[in-house]
Amino acid sequence: MRELLLCPPDYYGIEYEINPWMSRARGADTPLVQAQWKGLFDTLSKLDCQVELIPPRPKLPDMVFTANAGLTVGRRFIPSNFRHKERAGEAPHFAHWMEEHGYEIVWLPKNLYFEGEGDALFGGDVLFCGYKFRSDINSHRAVADILGCLVISVELVDPRFYHIDTCFCPLPDGGAVWFPAAFDEYGQSTIRDHLRDLIDVAPEEAAHFSCNAVVLDRDIVLPEGAPKLVATLRERGYTCHPLPMTEFLKAGGACKCLTMFMPQREKAT
Ligand code: ARG
Repeated sequence: MRELLLCPPDYYGIEYEINPWMSRARGADTPLVQAQWKGLFDTLSKLDCQVELIPPRPKLPDMVFTANAGLTVGRRFIPSNFRHKERAGEAPHFAHWMEEHGYEIVWLPKNLYFEGEGDALFGGDVLFCGYKFRSDINSHRAVADILGCLVISVELVDPRFYHIDTCFCPLPDGGAVWFPAAFDEYGQSTIRDHLRDLIDVAPEEAAHFSCNAVVLDRDIVLPEGAPKLVATLRERGYTCHPLPMTEFLKAGGACKCLTMFMPQREKAT
């Protein structure tokens, strides 16, 4: 059974602006935050997985976005090196929790920014890693050395889609859901070379973070607002669970950002 890490939104809020979605003038509605996060928790809990919770910490409003805790492969956990000082305080809490839960912690060199599963997703045999806005391309080489797997670095070009999990979502049948315009030409052709059966998301649906989905075998938990994508996925035999995520979109996150796989893969190769 897949294990997932979530963090309750007790201290969540829009307290700084580190991506184009965030505006301190547009705060999150606390009751709605609680309801939407609980909706995600309840939906995931009913699927074939086990949900673990890390205690939230005051003054770390983005700690809810556990995808950025790091990258877990097998029993090894590579913690993130956050680019923004506003989030850097999360790293020791995540590392400590993972260590307490029996994972081996493998730190990257401190000078390499890397934002975890938010920028590193396995598709087929390849670990696709996004760079520019958050993770450094050089962190990908370090991750490849640690894991011994094929890592493909792709440049992200649209600041709204600043982590790879905002515009790319691998599927278990070897394909992926993606928003091609978030990648440069080279990245697009590389992804096309490696993955067959790509499902393009329309720009208006991508803007609802439709690619930011948690895939559990044939179940896909995604933000609502993507009727075309949901229809396509249903035709392919997936069961979609669209959820309201408005309050997390205000921080530039949604279902997948709020979830980290433990592990994402049992083995890197
Ligand atoms: N406000 C957070 C940030 O800018 C959102 C993180 C979203 N996480 C993700 N995996 N895309 O860092």
